[in-house]
Order: sequence, then C-alpha cells, then structure tokens
Amino acid sequence: MTQPLLSARNIHLTYSTTTGLIRKKNVATTKAVDGVSFDIYPGETVGLVGGSGSGKSTLARIITRLIEPDSGEVWFDGELITEISPDRMRLYRRDIQVVFQDPLHSLNPRRTIGESIARPLLNFSTPKKVALAKARELMEVVGLNPDSVSRYPHEFSGGQCQRIAIARALALEPRLLILDEPVSALDVSVQAQILNLLKELQKRFGIAFLFVSHDLGIVRYMCDRTLVMYRGQIMESGMSDDIHDLPGHPFTRNFIDTILTMDGGARWLEVASRIEDVEGTQMTTEGCVFQAACTHAMPQCRVTTPELRSVDDSRSVACHLYNEETGFSPSDLNSKYQGE
Ligand SMILES: Nc1ncnc2c1ncn2[C@@H]1O[C@H](COP(=O)(O)OP(=O)(O)OP(=O)(O)O)[C@@H](O)[C@H]1O
Ligand code: SF4
Ligand SMILES: [Mg+2]
Repeated sequence: MTQPLLSARNIHLTYSTTTGLIRKKNVATTKAVDGVSFDIYPGETVGLVGGSGSGKSTLARIITRLIEPDSGEVWFDGELITEISPDRMRLYRRDIQVVFQDPLHSLNPRRTIGESIARPLLNFSTPKKVALAKARELMEVVGLNPDSVSRYPHEFSGGQCQRIAIARALALEPRLLILDEPVSALDVSVQAQILNLLKELQKRFGIAFLFVSHDLGIVRYMCDRTLVMYRGQIMESGMSDDIHDLPGHPFTRNFIDTILTMDGGARWLEVASRIEDVEGTQMTTEGCVFQAACTHAMPQCRVTTPELRSVDDSRSVACHLYNEETGFSPSDLNSKYQGE
C-alpha cells in the first residue's frame, strides 16, 4: 500500500495572548488546533475547509514548521520532521512549499519578479544565470510573458501576482504545495483562471495539494478529499463529493444549509462568521465543540468529546450520533432535514 507523503498526528497548539510590557499577564488562551490528525498521499489533493478562526492557517503553518506545535507529530516521507534539526529541515523545505492568500504582499516590492521566482533556487546554491533562466521558464508555465521578468510586483494585477507566487513555489519542484486561501483575495473572474491553472499544474507535475479555503464549492472542484474543521478540530473527513452532497456531521450540514438559504452571492466566509458570532460567547471546555449550536445534542455531548471515527468506506465523522448500536449513517442525518 502507498505510504502517506505527509502525516499529522494529534497536533495541539494553544495561543496565549498577553498584556503588559514588563510584567506580562496571560489574558486569554485560544485552542487554535486541538488534536488534529490526517494524512496526505503523494499526488493527492486535500481540501481543508472551515470558518474564520477555525485553525486552518495555524495547522498549515505547523505542518510546514513555520510555527511549532505544543505537541503532536508531523511525518514527511517517513521522517519525523517535528523533531529534526534545522539543517535537516532545510532539505524538506524544498519539498513543501506554500502559497499565501495575499499575492502582492507575499512578494518583495524591491525585487524584480524574475529575482523573486529565482530566490528559492539561489537559496539552494543554484548559479544565478541558471536560476534566472529557470524563472523565465516558470513564468511561461504559469501563463506569464517571460519578457516581463525585469518588472516589479506593483506593475502586475492581483491574478498575475498570484501566478508569480505560484511560479516561485514551483521553482524547487516541491512534492507538497500548501495553498492557503490562494484565490479569496482575487476577483471572481480571476479566481477561475487561477483555480484552473492550479488544476493543470497538479496534473502535469503530480504535486500533492493541501488546499485551504472557506468555500466548500471551490474545495469540491479542486480536491479529491476534504477535511472539515471547526474550532481547531476535524469534524469530518471524506471524499469531497460525498461531503458536499451528503454531509455526515451536523456542523457540515448546518453550514451547507445556511449557504443554501442565503442569497446567491453569499459565500462560505459570511456563513462562517455568522456561526462564529452566534457562538462566540459560548466556548465550551468539555464535550463536543459544536454542542451549543447542534440541534441533535444529547446529554453525552456535554461531557465527552467525540472522536473522529470511520462511518463508512471513506468517511470519518466526530459525532456521538454515530455508534455501532444505533448504526446511524450520513443518509439518516440528511433524511431528517429533508423530512422537516
Ligand atoms: N498569533 C496569534 N496569536 C494569538 N491568537 C492567534 C494567533 N494566530 C491565530 N490566532 C487565533 O487562533 C485561531 C485560529 O486562527 P487561524 O488563523 O489559524 O484560523 P483560520 O481558520 O485560518 O481563519 P481565517 O479563515 O480567518 O484565515 C483564531 O481564534 C485566531 O484568532
Ligand atoms: S456530538 Fe452531539 S453535539 Fe456534537 S455534533 Fe454530534 S450530536 Fe451534535
Ligand atoms: Mg487563515
């Protein structure tokens, strides 16, 4: 059986916010990532979807080791990268690249785009001439005119800047590309072009993607599998079509229902922030994190945190509705709603 390219195991990270310049006081803590485990296989596209503040970017930064978790393990290609030395980690930096949401701010305004794209190669001791020639090649790959290699980021549109950022991320021929909301800062018309470019590159180079987004529709279009995140935990994981058509977790169901009942233009982000607003004052420390908003909540949901358990061939759900005795299934959850 194929081994995962990346495995995250029981990742935890709590942020503490402090006040005071000299005597620092902890004023608040946020469990940004709370016991998350998942795998990404070579060449696979995995979507990480959830509302604002659910912990998606924190998780993405942990698996690239831009930040360290409080506990948990990240394995890449069979090696425990959360425990290796910075020198050894440098080798993996070639393999795991990230594209962020804001294309213009992710580029150095004082560097020509050719220098920006070539920078990762120069960092790995590629001769300057070779790196700049490769930058021109990559510009062509992402659909930009290589003759613009000496221009600066401010001379490009948002969509073009995102193409430059993608070219830079491809320079070291990574095996895993993490895309953190790569199109949400772009106009809708440009979003489709970038998504199609990413799909094409994924097919051409066989790179695995972790695609982070608020938008379940985009994730379904882009990804084989989807992980649904809420308050630092994975609520559900499975094939993207299944999750979209027959959600298994009451949280996912709630999200999709809210999207369907809102105006055509309303998107995941608005839905997400509504749910966060409603529940903002009802943080729970015990039991299921979704209990305050769940219409199915039972006494055990107040005391025991449900584990992410397999409910069919490809789906896992963290919810007490699913257990061997009741034989509850995603169809049961959805027929309840259709009957109402
Ligand atoms: N540096 C930080 N210090 C303190 N709290 C933080 C920090 N970064 C993030 N958080 C908090 O951690 C939680 C998760 O944040 P994160 O940015 O990972 O969420 P997200 O799912 O990426 O949200 P968004 O969709 O808005 O980008 C949020 O409650 C956020 O306020
Ligand atoms: S565990 Fe309980 S509260 Fe949580 S989603 Fe399932 S039914 Fe609702
Ligand atoms: Mg984020």
